[in-house]
Amino acid sequence: MSERITIFDTTLRDGEQSPGISLDVTEKLEIAEQLSRLGVDVIEAGFPIASQGDFESVEAIARLFGTPGASGSPIVCGLSRTGFADVDRAWEAVQHAARRRIHVFIATSPIHMEKKLRMTPDQVKIEAATAVARARSYCDDVEFSPEDASRSDFDFMCDVLRLAVDNGATTLNIPDTVGFAVPEEWGRRIASIRERVSGDYVLSMHCHNDLGLAVANSLSGVAAGARQIECTINGIGERAGNAALEELVMALRTRADALGQFEVGIRTEELARTSRLVSRLTGYPVQYNKAVVGRNAFAHEAGIHQHGVLTDKSTYEIMDAEAVGQTTEIVLGKHSGRHAFRDALDKLGFRLQGDALNAAFMRFKELADRKVELNEADLEAIVVEELGQAVGTGYAMVSLEVHGGNLSTPSARVVLERDGTKVTAFGEGDGMIDAVCSAIKQATGIDARLTDFKVSSVTGNTDALGDVVIKAEHDGLKVSGRGLSTDVVEASARAFLAAVNRILRIRERPSGPVVADRTGP
Ligand code: KIV
Ligand code: ZN
Repeated sequence: MSERITIFDTTLRDGEQSPGISLDVTEKLEIAEQLSRLGVDVIEAGFPIASQGDFESVEAIARLFGTPGASGSPIVCGLSRTGFADVDRAWEAVQHAARRRIHVFIATSPIHMEKKLRMTPDQVKIEAATAVARARSYCDDVEFSPEDASRSDFDFMCDVLRLAVDNGATTLNIPDTVGFAVPEEWGRRIASIRERVSGDYVLSMHCHNDLGLAVANSLSGVAAGARQIECTINGIGERAGNAALEELVMALRTRADALGQFEVGIRTEELARTSRLVSRLTGYPVQYNKAVVGRNAFAHEAGIHQHGVLTDKSTYEIMDAEAVGQTTEIVLGKHSGRHAFRDALDKLGFRLQGDALNAAFMRFKELADRKVELNEADLEAIVVEELGQAVGTGYAMVSLEVHGGNLSTPSARVVLERDGTKVTAFGEGDGMIDAVCSAIKQATGIDARLTDFKVSSVTGNTDALGDVVIKAEHDGLKVSGRGLSTDVVEASARAFLAAVNRILRIRERPSGPVVADRTGP
């Protein structure tokens, strides 16, 4: 049977200590409920003596999980220094929970004892022993942490840990408070604690991320015998944060072959949702490339990768995106290949082939070069634009140069190409769009009159594609045209040119069917 790793979540305590984060009771309750849905074993709900707000939050969370025997309800933990006032206040707050814990800590490193606590090592020993005993008088689940363990004298720290166990501590949590540890050395330290401190207790890790090693150190601790990991959602916490819960859990699950078979009670499908909730309520964004929960964690842009993932996801994904509440995404950008492009069109219901596919792909690449990412709406607009132009007779836009402003007459210079021949023309107008249309008329010899002009943005951002639809008339012939670009003037030029090409095709009686049909919804 595999051993269980207790997941101790301190998002609401250490996480909330992140600069700039301040959660009110309602927000803390919302997160606590989600943490319970996620399946964490322990929720460190706050530091009750720190403020009235903290006390009320811990108390409210304790009451939320107050039904004795409520199946799967997490242990609610309150943090406490060694002063009796702290311990009493922690108990007052957590007592309402069906399962509760008091977490007592005191620093054991020379620098903290001397500069912060102004206590001798012997005083620290007494503080630890008496505080743990007092906590144990209230509650049979007591955790003790020697703060700044990684910079503490090892023999002295073990003496303090022994005293904690002798006075009733049931969990010994070893904090790398300043993120100083490195995995191998940390693992050796943890293994030695097990050898040197006897008793019936659970060994726990609490690692900070100052060197980006919090997850690695925690896993090293597990390999050395730790069976509880303290962590936070999205890795938030003091300074560079704590070990990220989602990374730890997925590492244990994905690499059980290397890390050992452990049972973890987390419902991983809730990870992404929990991450989003914490990000929203704390105001701390999740970096795009954050492991497991980042929005790019399962997004593929490079053509070679997209081809691989479309054939078999495991070519570039070591975890199942759905298993962590995410979805695999093929991001269409300038690195994407024809394979992914066609697949995305297929999903939208467009079955393009041959020249139409080539033309749409070229247009897509051109736009992707200017716009970082193209979404479904952008794709749909590209295809509609290409279908509108169809393939065959017509002018293609080679280049466009416009000058505007209110100091000189707006002017435009276009270079168009038809059947391998380039034509350059210049036009002026009331505005830049008028100037562009005038230049196109010069170049094509089609003096079409614009009868309607509509511009809209395909998506909402400032880099959105401008989608221009126009109607034009020439010798009694009424046509429409559509153009797309991140630049509205260029989109207008393309729309006008599409209309002119249509006039040409009708006049010159082109043959051939429409080469694509939309079969989807
Ligand atoms: O980092 C730390 O040492 C802590 C303790 C209170 C466990 O957060
Ligand atoms: Zn901490």
